Amino acid sequence: SNTIDQSQVLKGRKIIVTAGGTREPIDPVRYITNHSSGKMGFAIAKAAADAGAEVTLIAANTSLPHFDGVSVISVVTAREMAAEVTKRFAEADGLIMSAAIADFRPETVADHKIKKVADEDKMTLTMVKNPDIVKSIGKVKRADQFVVGFAAETNDLMANANKKITSKNLDLIVANDVGNKKIGFNSDQNQVTLIWPNGETKKTSVETKSKVAEELIKIIAEFK
Ligand code: CTP
Ligand code: CA
Repeated sequence: SNTIDQSQVLKGRKIIVTAGGTREPIDPVRYITNHSSGKMGFAIAKAAADAGAEVTLIAANTSLPHFDGVSVISVVTAREMAAEVTKRFAEADGLIMSAAIADFRPETVADHKIKKVADEDKMTLTMVKNPDIVKSIGKVKRADQFVVGFAAETNDLMANANKKITSKNLDLIVANDVGNKKIGFNSDQNQVTLIWPNGETKKTSVETKSKVAEELIKIIAEFK
């Protein structure tokens, strides 16, 4: 027959996947984070491993079951995620950056639980910018490496995602409408628009995150 075995399309490839949402501490008992569950990143890691890739999953604050064939590295903050991605990227064939990174972190972390101040009805927290991980990787990536980013948008999805492809030097962006409550964060379903640097786009149907992950992995297998 003409059937081609699609099951090992990433055999021998080393892929880094990030997942989850970073936590940025305020004091020993409080932090700032976002709604990412890590489900999309875990599904991508699984699909890549099923396709024969050697997968390192750098997971921020997820509580999802691990699976065979994927080595998981746990991190908490954006800066820890940055360190783990940066030290591994040169050895990898590609990076899929599905983690939701906090753009800012509290400038200082109190070493004790911050107390309310009597008679103060407001408190001010100064935040400083976190490193843009995928942007710095985009600057150093070689021609034989790929970088896939995500764009979480509540509005102007296409325009915002297109800017990110260019500014971060991505090979593909997975644009996610996080304003839609039925899909995206924490859901088991997702619908994404894939956007290539040449402007080509493909919108997936609403389907399970595993299915979206499999479609993404097939596309990545065709890179180079
Ligand atoms: N990203 C990153 N490091 C950051 C922020 C984002 O690596 N400090 C990555 C995300 O993992 C994602 C892509 O950049 O793959 C886009 O993230 P997103 O939050 O949509 O875009 P930002 O560039 O942070 O811009 P904004 O939040 O202002 O839309
Ligand atoms: Ca952001």
